Amino acid sequence: MGKLDGRVIVITGAARGQGEQEARLFVAEGARVVLGDVLEEQGTALAAELGAERARFVRLDVAVEGDWAALVGAAEEAFGKIDGLVNNAGILRFNALVDTPLEEFRRVLDVNQTGCFLGIRTVAPRIAAAGGGTIVNTASYAGLTGMAFVGAYAATKHAVVGLTRVAALELAGQGIRVNAVCPGAVDTPMTNPAVLDPSAGPVDPAGQAESVRAVDELYRKLVPLGRIGRPEEVARLALFLSGEDSSYITGQPFVIDGGWLAGVSPF
Ligand SMILES: NC(=O)c1ccc[n+]([C@@H]2O[C@H](COP(=O)([O-])OP(=O)(O)OC[C@H]3O[C@@H](n4cnc5c(N)ncnc54)[C@H](O)[C@@H]3O)[C@@H](O)[C@H]2O)c1
Repeated sequence: MGKLDGRVIVITGAARGQGEQEARLFVAEGARVVLGDVLEEQGTALAAELGAERARFVRLDVAVEGDWAALVGAAEEAFGKIDGLVNNAGILRFNALVDTPLEEFRRVLDVNQTGCFLGIRTVAPRIAAAGGGTIVNTASYAGLTGMAFVGAYAATKHAVVGLTRVAALELAGQGIRVNAVCPGAVDTPMTNPAVLDPSAGPVDPAGQAESVRAVDELYRKLVPLGRIGRPEEVARLALFLSGEDSSYITGQPFVIDGGWLAGVSPF
């Protein structure tokens, strides 16, 4: 018996990183998944690998209202219902607040915050129609505390925690539980130094190895458990919040950060 047998779950930003690991784990636990992402090639390849019985890829820009309507139609046509959603898609931009162009601030809000809102607004009624289910939103460590130079990102992740609480209150009566995962630093393309600044041009492998070592060293010092997190570890939390093991839990942000948010150790 899988923990998600019979469930149909939409995962956004599923082409790579944490979303990809959520898709793999959810399928291993018996779910059928609909993968939404702007990365068509990677998303299509992942769905093909998981098999047409178990997975479909639909191109989705979470910030575009019409894309959500199309995704819901495609999901219900393929699998007959939707009873779970993982709002995972997100983007990160580094900038001091005073240097952040309005366009950049708005784009981060569009994807991380409006995307999460549109996902809840579009999919929750379909989950209700299927008899209830779960929504897992992806906030962040930066949704619960401040972090310098990621002002737009932190604002949206605080908003995702707020949306999670409100959605839990409004949707409980329809049998929908809504929770959030708040990862610390997780080893995905988002935190890969080679991906962080694509404008810097082609990556010199020696320089990249040096950056990776610097990042490892940083997290060894910052994080009590002494390392960056793995996307599979976040996927296991999303599984818990999407399955019956969390049947009496709703409206909560769950920190998964190796102890980073616990406080500062002087030793
Ligand atoms: N990696 C971390 O350290 C970390 C920490 C805390 C929270 N998070 C959050 O976890 C989530 C997953 O991030 P990740 O670490 O796997 O990074 P990632 O960059 O590897 O994955 C993000 C995915 O979202 C997709 N995406 C981006 N914009 C989109 C859009 N407009 N519409 C649809 N899909 C879009 C990307 O194509 C990508 O597949 C994000 O919400 C991120 O903010 C990540």
